[in-house]
Amino acid sequence: MTSQLKNIAVFASGNGSNFEAIATACLNNEINGARVSLLICDKHHAFALQRAKRLNIPAFEFDPKAFGSKSEYEQKILETLRAYSIDLICLAGYMRIVGSTLLEAFPKKILNIHPSLLPAFKGAMAIIEAFEFGVKVFGVTVHLIDGAIDEGTIIAQRAFEYHGDSITEVETKIHEIEHDLYPEAINSILSTI
Ligand code: GAR
Repeated sequence: MTSQLKNIAVFASGNGSNFEAIATACLNNEINGARVSLLICDKHHAFALQRAKRLNIPAFEFDPKAFGSKSEYEQKILETLRAYSIDLICLAGYMRIVGSTLLEAFPKKILNIHPSLLPAFKGAMAIIEAFEFGVKVFGVTVHLIDGAIDEGTIIAQRAFEYHGDSITEVETKIHEIEHDLYPEAINSILSTI
């Protein structure tokens, strides 16, 4: 019996460390039966694009401003996802709200990672806001998206205590957790699709 690999598309806007962590986990068979087949990027200078080149993963950069509307932008992305037979979308530092075109085409098949224990500290500045608030328990959440910012069914969360005064240490620990937690969450969701 031949088994067919599931195709993952990662969406990123910046550094792309989670993109690389997911791709590497697939290559190391830590994500069962799947591969990262595609990177979708909305920023021309995103370092994620360089990572894709090094990892030999096809990458497409679409500038939302070049399209007349969000739905035209997402329709273009959708064509690309279909061309690569994508089964699952993983948002990894994709700093844009996903619209109805993609949500309807991939129901319960779009994951996001967020650097806080949701529902606390939604939005783009989660780590700094949690740090400035003075929380002592930080964490990471992987969740399905439902169209609202950083909302949807939670798939996995991991917390850690921190009593120090260095935001850099907190960021480092959060990224370390993200790179383990996202592949684990992908594994659990893949068994359901
Ligand atoms: C990650 O920390 C991710 O949790 C966060 O962006 C970073 C991307 O890092 N996402 C959000 O804040 C979403 N609201 P990366 O580009 O190195 O993967």
